[in-house]
Amino acid sequence: MVIAIDGPAGAGKSTVAREVARVLGFTFLDSGAMYRCVALAALERRVEPGEPAAVSELARGLDIELEGPVVRLDGRDVGEAIREPEVTAAASRLSVHPEVREAMVARQRRMIESGDYVAEGRDIGTVVSPDAALKVFLTASEEERARRRSQQTKEPFEQVLTAIRARDERDSTRRHGALRAAEDAVELDTTGVPAEEVVERVVDLAIERGVA
Ligand code: DC
Repeated sequence: MVIAIDGPAGAGKSTVAREVARVLGFTFLDSGAMYRCVALAALERRVEPGEPAAVSELARGLDIELEGPVVRLDGRDVGEAIREPEVTAAASRLSVHPEVREAMVARQRRMIESGDYVAEGRDIGTVVSPDAALKVFLTASEEERARRRSQQTKEPFEQVLTAIRARDERDSTRRHGALRAAEDAVELDTTGVPAEEVVERVVDLAIERGVA
């Protein structure tokens, strides 16, 4: 059983998905962490994120393990390193390449086929798991998303806002796995709504749909 939670950067996907998974006893899948692992590996090995052939070859060969909040790249804990701003920027750039996406989507499908998952990302409800039992599309105003991110990362608000705009643009205009709500997704605007309320709403939806 899969609950798909998609939406733009800073909409609250990770916080909400992680908590919904805990409440329902499902496993949490942070698909963005996988693109971030590829980005970290690319930066470390001096592979240019704009080079589809080199990056996709790299993406296919990596050992990425997600275990609850722990993220391991080739056996190393990279939970903090993948949140660095330069990794964020590189992940956004390399996630436009169809070959990179194919490699990540195949891994994500293998993970979710056995078990109950709350999976979050950009294309879970549209590409990774179009048959998900419940699809939620989280949004929030640009300013609120930038404010949340800047509180998390301690980067200046204006800088985060500019970066979020650039990521939104790349996420929504790429040809493969573009950020968009699935037709059967429930859209929730989280602007000004505390995370606990959003979690409650998603859990209620899961119960209404017989998912949980
Ligand atoms: O959700 P996040 O910020 O951790 O995602 C990091 C990058 O990965 C983001 O720029 C978009 C990309 N991504 C994606 O293309 N598809 C996903 N399912 C998840 C993330």
